[in-house]
Formats: sequence, structure tokens, C-alpha cells
Amino acid sequence: MSKSVIKAVIPAAGLGTRFLPATKATPKEMLPIVDKPAIQYVVEEAAASGLHDVLIIIGRNKGNIVDHFDSVPELEQTLHKKGDNTKLGMVKDASDIADVHFLRQGQPLGLGHAVGRAEQHVGQESFAVLLGDDLIDARDPLLPTMIAEHDARGATIIALMEVPQEQIHMYGCAAVEPTENSEVVRITSLVEKPTAAEAPSNLAVIGRYVLRPEIFELLAKQEPGRGGEIQLTDALNTLARGEAGESAGPVYGVIFRGRRYDTGDKGDWIKANVQVGIESPGVGDDLKAWLKEFAAQL
Ligand code: UTP
Repeated sequence: MSKSVIKAVIPAAGLGTRFLPATKATPKEMLPIVDKPAIQYVVEEAAASGLHDVLIIIGRNKGNIVDHFDSVPELEQTLHKKGDNTKLGMVKDASDIADVHFLRQGQPLGLGHAVGRAEQHVGQESFAVLLGDDLIDARDPLLPTMIAEHDARGATIIALMEVPQEQIHMYGCAAVEPTENSEVVRITSLVEKPTAAEAPSNLAVIGRYVLRPEIFELLAKQEPGRGGEIQLTDALNTLARGEAGESAGPVYGVIFRGRRYDTGDKGDWIKANVQVGIESPGVGDDLKAWLKEFAAQL
């Protein structure tokens, strides 16, 4: 495993407006996918990729994210007395996965601003960013490949996914050149949420990044962009276009072809619960049988 990347940053300070009113007092990252909050899957992914130092950027109403990764002695004692070791294991798992730290964003000024806040914890090292509402199936590991590409190329690495043309307006989109590896592309520029006509490719930016510390200087100077927010994509575009100087390094994309679940909006969250639920022991068989019956009535 890489020694160059040891820290993971999970921004979870967004307002979650697409999921109101559920997200009025509960962060969207705490909404469950089957039996675990979305953010626990993301912390587990970081730890499974060798990143045991995890910084979660939190905002307003995010206290229950902190509580979730803390131990709960009363609950643990009660389960212990009852001899319910399965549930006890589940409760302890969340607090034992990684060394989890928290930092407040202050104001939700955008994803770029949230990532910029991580500098005081990350320092002058490369680090991974995992979005707290974007789940990568543990059976299709992505981050280890991205870290290996970062180490081999000395580059910033962004996860990309092919999407249908009519969906590209929902993502950042990359203009790319091929490399010797069909699964890796050189990114020459990025555009945030383009129309289908403006999009330079069908490659969408998804929520995994391996960043070099040079990004912090760019984020500190970054003017607000789309939606009045400080956009990570805009700072990465400066890098990709070579406008930050050669020492900041190039930007490459790793194309992800595995299973991914977006949990940031209502419809996608429901789909994610069905997709993950169907594979879950104790839930899947019953759910599958019911779904078939239900779908036949539609
Ligand atoms: P999103 O744009 O999906 O999050 O940001 P949002 O703003 O919460 O969502 P909507 O559009 O209002 O529903 C992507 C990620 O960046 C984090 C979010 O928590 C999410 O994980 N983020 C966004 C921050 O941490 N801070 C911000 O200021 C904005």
C-alpha cells in the first residue's frame, strides 16, 4: 500500500437542499442505506484502501455524524448484558473503523472551500477526497487504483465515469486525451455541469479524488463559480490546463466501471437502498421476491 497517501478527507458540510425536508435537521450523509448511514460506507472504503486517518468536514446540524463515530458505553453495556454480540459488534464497528477527526467548515461556501479547510489537518501531503454522499461498492475497489496512479505519475487523479449524454449536465465533465492505459486518461480541462451540447466528452467526475497539496494554494485563491460556490472543479481545471505551473503536476482520470450509488437526492437514495438491500443478508431474498411481485403490477 502507498505511503504517500495516508489521509482521507470526507466533506459532509453541504446543505443537502435536494433532500429537504429530511435534511432539515439531519445531514444527508447520515441517511441510512439499508442499515448503515451512507457516510459509514465511505469511511469503511477509506480504511479498506489503507487510509486510516480520516477527516470529516462537518457543518450546521452535523453533530450526529460526530456521535455516530463515537463509542456509546451505555448502549454497549446493555447489549453486552443481553449477550447480543452481533448488535454489539455493529455498534462498535462504527467507532473502530478508522481514526476519525472532525473539522467545521463554518459556512457552506462550496465543496472547494470545504476541501480547502482540510489544509490544517492534511499539511503538505497528498490526500484522498471521498464525497460523503457517493458510494462505491466495496466489491469494485477504486481508490487503491487511483492512489497507485498518483504514485506512479506524480499526478492529481480524478475518478471519472461514462454517463449517458442526457445526464452529463448533472456532473463535472472532463476533456481528455488517451494514455497507454485504456482505463486512464490525461485530463486537459474540466467544466462544471455543462449542457449536452457544451460537454467535451461523456466522462463525468464522480466523488473520488487523489489530490496533491498544491491544490490548497489554488483553492485559497479560487473565486466563487457556479451557484456562487467555491468549486473544487474550477481549481482542478486550473491545474488540468497547466495554468498552475509545471511543478503542480498534471491531472489524470481513472475511469470507473463498477457499481456506484449516488445518495444525494431522493430518487437515487431510494434506488441505492434497493440495490444494496437486494444483496444484504437477511433482507435481500425477501426484498427480491417482493420487488418481482410489485414490478409485475406496474
Ligand atoms: P453537493 O452539491 O452534492 O451537496 O456537494 P449539497 O450542497 O449538500 O447538496 P444539495 O445540492 O444542496 O442537495 C457535494 C459534497 O460536498 C459537500 C457535501 O456535503 C457533499 O458531500 N459540501 C458541499 C460541503 O462539504 N460543503 C459545501 O459548502 C458544499
